[in-house]
Amino acid sequence: MKTSVLVVDDELLIRKSLSKVLRARGYGVETASTGAEGLEKAASIRPQVMILDMRLPDTDGLSVLRRVRQVDPLLQVIVITAFGDVQSAVDAMKLGACDFLRKPYEMEDIVLATESAGRNFRQASELDLYRRQAWRHYSGEEIIGESAAMRDVRDLIEKVVRSQATSVLITGDSGTGKELVARAIHYRSDRSQAPLMEVNCSSFHESLLENELFGHERGAFTDATDTKKGLVELCDGGTLFLDEVADMPIPTQAKLLRFIDHRNFKRVGGAQDITVDIRLVAATNKDLEAEVRGGRFRNDLYFRLKVVSIHLAPLCERGDDVLLLGHHFLGEFSRKFSKRFSDFTPEAAQRFLSYSWPGNVRELRNLIERVVLLEEGEKVALEHLPPEMLGQRGPSFEVPSRAADASSLPTLAQIEAEHIGEVLRLTAGNKSRAARILGISRQGLIEKLRRSRLDGGVDRQVS
Ligand SMILES: Nc1ncnc2c1ncn2[C@@H]1O[C@H](COP(=O)(O)OP(=O)(O)OP(=O)(O)O)[C@@H](O)[C@H]1O
Ligand SMILES: [Mg+2]
Repeated sequence: MKTSVLVVDDELLIRKSLSKVLRARGYGVETASTGAEGLEKAASIRPQVMILDMRLPDTDGLSVLRRVRQVDPLLQVIVITAFGDVQSAVDAMKLGACDFLRKPYEMEDIVLATESAGRNFRQASELDLYRRQAWRHYSGEEIIGESAAMRDVRDLIEKVVRSQATSVLITGDSGTGKELVARAIHYRSDRSQAPLMEVNCSSFHESLLENELFGHERGAFTDATDTKKGLVELCDGGTLFLDEVADMPIPTQAKLLRFIDHRNFKRVGGAQDITVDIRLVAATNKDLEAEVRGGRFRNDLYFRLKVVSIHLAPLCERGDDVLLLGHHFLGEFSRKFSKRFSDFTPEAAQRFLSYSWPGNVRELRNLIERVVLLEEGEKVALEHLPPEMLGQRGPSFEVPSRAADASSLPTLAQIEAEHIGEVLRLTAGNKSRAARILGISRQGLIEKLRRSRLDGGVDRQVS
């Protein structure tokens, strides 16, 4: 895309010469001779870079700068100051100008400054996009679903975020959206400016988990050469997300319980009590009550964690939500892969509604991603769906450990197709990069894709 530049200067000669030089370098250039005209054009053209003379006939450059930055914080402004006028250069930088040049300047300096401003713009807008997506994603706006079950979930989230520190237990099968809900609770609450820290309780051994949560003092054990803060301390003011909490070792459960009751803790090897203010959000796909009955989870901790509990129903119990989510993901991946998919054929929609979705929303999302990436068209049709959705075969070959007998093990071609699908997913469909990772030529990859699509290989996998 051409970078567009708006030159605001009252001298005709300067406007002309700058336009000429910048156009010759491939920029789109517009000009304005007064501050008022500059503001008007900035609003209508939405340039990426503005070259602004500080001395203008109708107003001063600083107030123009202030206004345009308010309207369009991403706009990169290069200011031109009179020789020796250091103060306005300093003021302009404070107001967010990206660069300044003093008169008289060399044309080459203007070109260099414009180039770097264009780069700044691209970076700033990427970051902005990412932030907005992150915000939308995490603030819960994107929790899709109109079923009674999901309405209840949203209501509960709304209530929970109004309380400061209430602990929340989120339950539900794998892929039902527990992490999404945990993030929504954090980012929609007053704690959103403080950190959300996450720890997966199943991926640490007892002492490591304790260390991860509460940190340690220097010298607490042989390797402890320095004091280290734990997550509890690091997310003071924020939210601690204890994922797969059912797998927390019993001794760590005791420490956590003590922390919940006193709201303070000691670092491992430390003597001093440290007080923090955090909200605990825990999640599990196990039946925690059964864990309590089996003696694997402390009853008292269970009750402290589930002050409010939010249960996420399996996807197959959410009725039409399957299609709402399907459309949502179609939109997401069509945009991402520049495809045209926007709907389902009636037969495919019917199949979506009757399928059991053992992997829940995650399975649905992965399926849509794969179809949009690998297929062409506007509607997802039956022929795009994997055999297990069409009832042609039993469990996905992705879980050979669960295969009942040797005949249900995948063929090499299926494993190859699955691996190719995964690499393509990770490279966002970039065939050259995927081919490099796979150690084959791009042409070879295209050939394999063509062949596996013919015999349904790539479609057969389920993530
Ligand atoms: N209601 C929803 N609306 C939109 N996206 C959703 C919804 N529920 C889940 N997702 C998406 O589905 C995927 C899986 O969700 P998530 O990771 O939150 O599941 P989980 O319950 O934590 O799974 P696991 O138990 O395996 O950790 C994510 O990409 C998430 O964004
Ligand atoms: Mg999760």
